Formats: sequence, C-alpha cells, structure tokens
Amino acid sequence: TIRSVQAFEILDSRGNPTLTVRMTLEDGTEAFASVPSGASTGIHEAVELRDGGARFQGKGVQTAVRHVNEIIAPQVVGMSAGDQADVDHVLQSLDGTMQKSRLGSNALLGVSMAALRAAAVSRRVPLYRYIGGAQATTLPVPLLNVLNGGAHADNNVDIQEFMIVPAGAGTFSEAMRMASETYHALKALLKSQGLRTAVGDEGGFAPDLRSDTEALDLLLKAIQTAGLEAGKDIVLALDVAASELYREGTYHVGGESKTAKDMVEWYRTLVEAYPIVSIEDGLAEDDWAGWSDLRQQLGDRIQLVGDDLFVTNPTRIVRGIEENVANAVLIKLNQIGTVSETLEAIHRTHRAGWQAIVSHRSGETEDTTIADLTVGVNGTQIKTGAPARSERVAKYNRLLLIEADDPSLEYAGWEAFHR
Ligand code: PGA
Ligand code: ZN
Repeated sequence: TIRSVQAFEILDSRGNPTLTVRMTLEDGTEAFASVPSGASTGIHEAVELRDGGARFQGKGVQTAVRHVNEIIAPQVVGMSAGDQADVDHVLQSLDGTMQKSRLGSNALLGVSMAALRAAAVSRRVPLYRYIGGAQATTLPVPLLNVLNGGAHADNNVDIQEFMIVPAGAGTFSEAMRMASETYHALKALLKSQGLRTAVGDEGGFAPDLRSDTEALDLLLKAIQTAGLEAGKDIVLALDVAASELYREGTYHVGGESKTAKDMVEWYRTLVEAYPIVSIEDGLAEDDWAGWSDLRQQLGDRIQLVGDDLFVTNPTRIVRGIEENVANAVLIKLNQIGTVSETLEAIHRTHRAGWQAIVSHRSGETEDTTIADLTVGVNGTQIKTGAPARSERVAKYNRLLLIEADDPSLEYAGWEAFHR
C-alpha cells in the first residue's frame, strides 16, 4: 500500500531539470524513479511540462513537481503499488487530456515508474522478474550509437545516429566487450585522421565528416581494427530521424531535395553496400504512404523501426500494423507517459510479430528501469547509447549484473533479426 509520493527537481545528463519521484509503502519499502527527456522529439509525443520563464532557461519542472505532490499524491496514497493498471488509470483520468498536457507526462511517468519499482522491491524480486515472471528468458542485443550526424552534430552527415550491433557475440557481456573495443578503435582512428573525438549527448562521436558513406566506412574500419569482422561479429543500424530532414513535402539530404521514393532507393544502395540490419525513422513522422512503400521495398530484408512515427502510442502502432508500414517499434516510456500504456504498446507490437526495441532518450539519468523492462518483456534489442558516459553505461551495467545473476537468460544474438 502506497504511504507517500513525493517528487523532486533534479538534473539530467544535459544539466537540464527533470523529475525524480520517491514512493514509500506501508511495509517500509522506498523506491525512486527518474524521468528522461528527448531532444529530437516527435510531434505526436505526450507533452513534457516545463515551467517557462527565466529560471533554467524556461526548462524548470517545479509545476510538474507540484502536480505530483499536490494533485497526484493524495489520489494514489492508499492504493496498492502492485496494481499498476489502476494507478495508471488514476493518473490518466486526473490528467484528462490526449497528450498528457495538463499535469505533464513527466509528472505522470515519474509516479507510474515509481509504483513499478516499489512493487518489485516490496515483493523482493528483481524488477525484470516482477515485470516478466518466468517468461523472461532473453538478454537483448545492444544497439550502440557511436557516430552522430543530423541535428545531433555540426557536420555534413544527414543521418542522426550510426549504431554498432554486436549480434554475433555469444553472450551479452561478450557483446559489450566487442562494442567497447570497437568504440575505442574508432576513437583512435578518428584521432589518427585529425578528427574530433569529443562526444555528443548519447556518448557517440561527432567528427566533421564529409558524407554519410564516410561515416559508414569509418565504422567498418574501426570494427576491423578491433580485430572483429563486420557482418559476422558486428553489424550496423541507423537512425535517420528523417522528420528532421523533412520540410515542405521533401527530404533534404546531401544538399538535394528527395522524394520518399528517392529516400527508399538511397536506403537500398546503403543496404547493398554495408552490413546494415536496421533503419529507424527512414521517413517522416506523418509520411504513412512513404512508410508503406519503404516496408514493401525493404521490409523483408531489414528491420524498419518507427520512433517519431509511432511515439510508443498504441493507437498509432495499431494503425501501423494494419497498414503494414514497418516491422519494429521503438519504445520510450516518456513518449506515452505511463508504464501500462508502454506495456500495451509492447504487447501489441509483439503480437503482430514485430520487434519492440526499448530505448533511452538523449537526456537521461542514472535510472536503469529500461534495462529491466527490456528483459521483462523479452525484448531482443535495447538502444541506450555508446559504451561511455555513466547515464548510458548504467543501463548496460544493469544488464551485465542481470546476466551474471541469472544464467537461465539467453543472449538474443542473431535471433533478434530473424524475419
Ligand atoms: P531523442 O532522440 O531522445 O533526443 O528524442 C533519440 C532518437 O531519435 O531516437
Ligand atoms: Zn529515433
């Protein structure tokens, strides 16, 4: 039974304010949950409440904190933390809007996640077991963002994120070793070419490169330098974040205007030239017709992931499944605002035979809930940044500990990409 709920304004990995929520239960349990924050957000996402004004350049969350302490807390105190659906239902009806704009998705999610974490602590089971029970059997393949372009970098690269994917590893810890070795080989390679090695918000490098193919070639070289084989040990994944490239009906890439069809043909040439297994947000968030064509052209060969397209919203995911526009969904808790709706999004995705990839945001905290969530729902992939920066590594480290504690869990490996 929930005894108290209290929110606090803390800082995220960018130094911007976010919420942490402390929940205590009548049995003495205490649990914390912290809320992440995106930068290249989809327009259909749940609304993150910011104070405005001068304080923290307008990014303060004191209003959201007050909403937790004064409006939400009195209603959920006395409920059972284990009744996640009931708690989330109260949160949704207290807010009462489609996009959680009244109380703020950050206020709602902090309480929702704190209930999840508190219930697991109270039952003395690891969070992933609390979520998945005996059905949790899989450790995910990590998708590690190591090179950046697009809105995330100041260079001539259009694609926002280049990820390495150690699908050929035998275990999760071996995957992390391969990823770390490749990351360091890439750093040395950049240095030797006189390129910048400063890292972006997600820990990836953002050197001044001339083109997207130069970025892909660098990755292949780094994998090789690390003594690994591209296509066998490590494959590649892209997040194009194409909504950011889309203006007035066309995609702006490499100084040219491209139609959705041109974009699909561009991806076809990339997929033929490089060991790419997954492309996220290849087209813009409302280009349903373009997505449908992309799925028809490339969906049998590679994974096509909707992030801004679906925004973890069950309604948009159902439409996407009906219209067959993708074959995977990126899952971000704060895009939808409650744990229950996130679980519904994942279950609908899995029921269609699609992959659900649990993801961090570019603004993160030390909270590791997404690591347990991935394992709990048998997610075969997790996207949580480079193997560097503590807010990214915290999630990988949690998975390393889960692997060490529970030998019954199996690394997904290539199974993650079977179609
Ligand atoms: P965000 O970006 O967390 O800044 O929205 C990451 C992504 O596009 O996947
Ligand atoms: Zn994305």
